[in-house]
Amino acid sequence: MKEIRNIAIAGAGTMGSSMAQAFAKCGYPVKVYDAFPAALEKAKHLLKLNQESEVKAGNLTEEESLKLQSLITFEEDINSLADTDFLVEAIVERLEIKHSFYSSLCKVVREDAILCSNTSGLSITKIAEAVSAPQRFAGMHWMNPPHIIPLIEIIRGEQTAEETAEQVKDIALKLGKKPVIVKDAPSFVLNRLQQAILRESLHIVNEGIASPEAVDDVMKYALGFRYACFGPFETCDLGGLDIHYNISKYTFPDLCDAKEPFGLLQECIDNNRLGVKNGAGFYDYSNGKDDEVIRRRDEMFLKLSKCLFGE
Ligand SMILES: NC(=O)c1ccc[n+]([C@@H]2O[C@H](COP(=O)([O-])OP(=O)(O)OC[C@H]3O[C@@H](n4cnc5c(N)ncnc54)[C@H](O)[C@@H]3O)[C@@H](O)[C@H]2O)c1
Repeated sequence: MKEIRNIAIAGAGTMGSSMAQAFAKCGYPVKVYDAFPAALEKAKHLLKLNQESEVKAGNLTEEESLKLQSLITFEEDINSLADTDFLVEAIVERLEIKHSFYSSLCKVVREDAILCSNTSGLSITKIAEAVSAPQRFAGMHWMNPPHIIPLIEIIRGEQTAEETAEQVKDIALKLGKKPVIVKDAPSFVLNRLQQAILRESLHIVNEGIASPEAVDDVMKYALGFRYACFGPFETCDLGGLDIHYNISKYTFPDLCDAKEPFGLLQECIDNNRLGVKNGAGFYDYSNGKDDEVIRRRDEMFLKLSKCLFGE
């Protein structure tokens, strides 16, 4: 394993600033780079908000939190990433933008710097087309909020070296995360499952079977509760495979198989309702409800994490 010291995060949006905290918590100095100064300002605000929750939950003392924050610097100039040993890219989910970013980045960083993309499901092999020495490139897919959720999917593209995947796994373990290495299939594993649930949820609302609030309650008070401890295969084993087999037989034919986004999701997108980040999505986040929901989410996730993993 190469010695990893200097960490860089590219893209200071919803994911980037929180990922920086996960590295800084382990003592790594982290540069958070974004091409847009306004994004860096927003990231500083998010960092403060997340740290308040960590201190409130007793995960860090005020002093530890200040030390963590002092390890994170914010950069507008891509040339400042020249000393990077390990970079996670979390810029917008568009292949052409990622390509243009990696072309610029590879002129700046050393050939042996490990580069990872936090793409939600774009092909790692395709992104790698813009990476020089693509054997040092892999997918490192975190889940929101990345400083709290344990899972990291590690994706090996066609050219990713075994040592690179192992190095990414090693660093994920050092951060106290649960890494899982998966194949470079569209949307990997996490988002295939998540999108299947989203598609059926939209379908249920579209068909008038239940409201979005009711669907959220079903997830929170039953399936999510269960899945926090047991996966779908374990759950079926516990319930009895004959039972699940019979339910599958009469339910599968009725499930949604739409090939395009639709319904409430399409309506929100058409009306520029992008969620918490711009004040409205399926629900309303105006007048401070955005900060409130992030605070509540982090407090609940930290409690859950303590309960499940003792940390
Ligand atoms: N939001 C999630 O729940 C989530 C979860 C897992 C993975 N991801 C993935 O992480 C990545 C980032 O997602 P996000 O939700 O943080 O997005 P976001 O829109 O909140 O942030 C993206 C950031 O990238 C910056 N950016 C855009 N072009 C850039 C460029 N050329 N150079 C540098 N910075 C640039 C933007 O200014 C913005 O700050 C995406 O690939 C996304 O699919 C998101």
